[in-house]
Amino acid sequence: MPAWSCGVRPTTISPSVTASHTRPFRVGLLGHGTVGGAFERLLEERADAIAGVVGRRPEICGVLTRSRGDFGEILERSDLVVELIGGTDPALEYALRCLRSGKHLVTANKQLLSRHGEELFEAAGESGAQLRYEAAVAGVVPAIRVIGESLAGAHIERVHGIVNGTTNFILTAMERTGASYEEALSEAQALGYAEADPTEDVTGKDAAAKMAILARLAFGTPVHLDEVPCEGIESITAEDIAYAKELGLSLKLIGSAERRADGLSVQVYPAFLYGGHPLAAVNGSFNAVTIESPAITEITLSGPGAGGSQTASAVLGDVVSAMIPPSYNPPPAEPQPLVSDVESAFYLHVEVADRPGVLAQVAEILGLQGVSIKSVVQKGIGEDARLAMVMHAVLESRFRAAVDLIERLDFVRAPPRVIHVIEEVFE
Ligand SMILES: NC(=O)c1ccc[n+]([C@@H]2O[C@H](COP(=O)([O-])OP(=O)(O)OC[C@H]3O[C@@H](n4cnc5c(N)ncnc54)[C@H](OP(=O)(O)O)[C@@H]3O)[C@@H](O)[C@H]2O)c1
Repeated sequence: MPAWSCGVRPTTISPSVTASHTRPFRVGLLGHGTVGGAFERLLEERADAIAGVVGRRPEICGVLTRSRGDFGEILERSDLVVELIGGTDPALEYALRCLRSGKHLVTANKQLLSRHGEELFEAAGESGAQLRYEAAVAGVVPAIRVIGESLAGAHIERVHGIVNGTTNFILTAMERTGASYEEALSEAQALGYAEADPTEDVTGKDAAAKMAILARLAFGTPVHLDEVPCEGIESITAEDIAYAKELGLSLKLIGSAERRADGLSVQVYPAFLYGGHPLAAVNGSFNAVTIESPAITEITLSGPGAGGSQTASAVLGDVVSAMIPPSYNPPPAEPQPLVSDVESAFYLHVEVADRPGVLAQVAEILGLQGVSIKSVVQKGIGEDARLAMVMHAVLESRFRAAVDLIERLDFVRAPPRVIHVIEEVFE
């Protein structure tokens, strides 16, 4: 029986409900390492806000590590258990005991799901407990929720993913700097993107576990990790990458799960992508998942694939989902002011008469409005002369004021063109 159905069942709860008026929702935490520690901190930080929305305040009711806590006692006290130990022993035993006793389970454990998914889903199905595992694939990227819920009605044909941040970091470093595989791996290790023993990541095994989980969800077929062929990136050379770059191609470690005439194909392999592919632009340690279906064409989700606080956020999202009763209605939205004059970088294109001092006058006007030029190119001669510039981020009203003044200069031959520039690079 779901935990929320044995007491007061909230309907619409005002965000002003205070913690002291809400019944606690007890969360047992197994594992207190990188993700477990971050999860506990995040939960404490967000507990009151969650209580305001859901009507119950989540609280850690016990922590299990190798040196503290007792699993039996924690299970007894919990409404929901979060498993962040990793591996299968003792995580499998704990997960099964939890689900069989009807307690919801949230886990980030790809090994557990890709090796013992069927046993776990069966236990959950029999007791009615929820088994949630968003953080087990692609960190904070909500691939599980989108495939399992938002696209539950779509006939998914293919799921392509960059689901290992370590290998994507290495391939990106090789592409950007011309480094060898060994050099890029050392850099990844020095920066904490790769483990001292990177075998699971660079052989494609880690990605294979995640693709087994995605394939099961997308196609409703049991897929065991051992059934997923995988090829890693250890034999990729700097020449491969340089050649690909000249052709406008990027090399990525791709996890692929797709329907074929004769069944399903689930594999992991390095692949070149043309620049237009949504996964080609996913760089550094970021992950991304592209889902294809005739009904939706294609959706790509991307974001950090690991990290304590990022993964903890996905885990907490699952906890909140498990807490929300099916009749949940969101509280009324709170009005917020809408702002239109915000900072942005800009591209400015000005057609000018080709005469001395033109650039200096334009630059002076920009400078007087506090707009600083990041880069500039002068093109053409005579009637065809123009300036193309990119500005550093500035309040839009100041930039527009400068453009109005520039437009009035006698050597400006046509209204200047302005385009926003998004400067952020996510990796
Ligand atoms: N780290 C990430 O960025 C990331 C991203 C996505 C998913 N995940 C997944 O999240 C899970 C946790 O990863 P993590 O990086 O947080 O691992 P971690 O830092 O190694 O922490 C593991 C925790 O589990 C505890 N533990 C280990 N064996 C135990 C046992 N036999 N009994 C009780 N407790 C035990 C450890 O106890 P001690 O404190 O006593 O050593 C530690 O607190 C894994 O499934 C991992 O694949 C991690």
